[in-house]
Amino acid sequence: MVETIEWTPSGVVMIDQTRLPLHEEYVTCRNYEEVATAIRDMIIRGAPAIGVAAAMGVAIGVQYAAEDGLDAQMETICDTLAKTRPTAVNLFWAIDRMKRLYATLRGQPIAAIRERLISEAKLVREEDIAINRAIGKHGAPLVPDGKTVLTHCNAGALATAGYGTALGVIRAAIETGKKIDVFADETRPFLQGARLTVWELQQDKIPTTLITDNMAGHFMKSGRIGCVVVGADRIAATGDVANKVGTYSVAVLAKENGVPFYVAAPISTLDLTLTSGDQIPIEERSAAEVTHVFGNLVAPEGTAVKNPAFDVTPFRYVTGIITENGVAHAPYEESLKRLAGK
Ligand code: MRU
Repeated sequence: MVETIEWTPSGVVMIDQTRLPLHEEYVTCRNYEEVATAIRDMIIRGAPAIGVAAAMGVAIGVQYAAEDGLDAQMETICDTLAKTRPTAVNLFWAIDRMKRLYATLRGQPIAAIRERLISEAKLVREEDIAINRAIGKHGAPLVPDGKTVLTHCNAGALATAGYGTALGVIRAAIETGKKIDVFADETRPFLQGARLTVWELQQDKIPTTLITDNMAGHFMKSGRIGCVVVGADRIAATGDVANKVGTYSVAVLAKENGVPFYVAAPISTLDLTLTSGDQIPIEERSAAEVTHVFGNLVAPEGTAVKNPAFDVTPFRYVTGIITENGVAHAPYEESLKRLAGK
C-alpha cells in the first residue's frame, strides 16, 4: 500500500496527490508554512490525512521555533494551520490535541518539548492506521457478497495515514473472502475518484470501474450496487454528514433505489458540538477547478461559477455510520454519543 505521509529527519514527506495518477512524486515540507500550503493546495487531502499533516505541521513548526516567545510562536503555527481548510474537523481535532499536549509540557527544556511533539505527531499517524483497520473490521460484515460497492471521492489510504475509511471497509470485506468489485464516481471537479481511488485500488488489484458522477443513479437502478460506502469530513451530533460535494445526490439516489448508504469515519470526524449539519462550514474553492480540466478551459471565458467542495447529507439518508468503536444507527444523537464515549 502507498505511504501517504511520513515524518522523516529532513521533514514531512507526502505523496503529491495533485500529480497522481500520472506522476508518483513525493514532496518534503521543511517547515510549518510548507505543510500549511500542502494542505491548502491539496497536495495532501482527505480529512484524516489532513489531521495527521496538521499534527506533523505543529511538530515541525516547534522544531524551528526560538525558545524565546515559544508560546506566541506555537499560537502562530496553530493559527496558520487552522486557516488552511475549514470543513474537515480532523484538522482542528489534531491541532487541539497538539495544543493540549504542549500546555502540559510548558516549562520543560525546549529539546524535550520538541521531541515529545514529534512523537505525538507520529502517534497520530500510527493510531489513524489502527483506527482504519478497526473501521474495516466493523464495516466488512455490512458489505453484501458478490455485489458492487459504489464510492464517491477518495476515502482510501491516500485520504488517511493508510488503509482508508470507506476503502478500508472494502479492503476488509475482501480480506474476509467476499467477492466484490468497486464502482468509483469520478468526483468532479477535483477528480479524486478518477485520479486517486481508481489508482490506489488498482495498486491493490481490487477490481474497479470508473463511472462519471451522473451515472450513479443508472447503476443503482440496475440492481448491481449492493451498497454505497463513503467517508466524511465532519459529522454533526444528529448524524448529518458533510462529505465531498455530490455525496448528497448519491445518498438520495441510494434511498430511492433501496441501496444501503454507509458512512465510514473515525470518531475524530464527529463534531458533537453541532446540532445540525447546516452548521458545518462548507469550503468554497476556486472557480478554475470547475472551468478547467487539467489546465484546459472547458467553459466560456468569464462564466459564473460556484464551487462548494462539500455538501451535507441529512441523517435520514444514512443507513449506518461505521466507526472504529462500532456502527452507529439512528437515532444518531444517542448512538454517536455512546460510540464516542460521551
Ligand atoms: O477535498 P478533499 O479531497 O479533502 O475531500 C475528501 C473527502 O471528502 C473525503 O471523502 C473525506 O475527507 C473522508 S477521507 C477518509
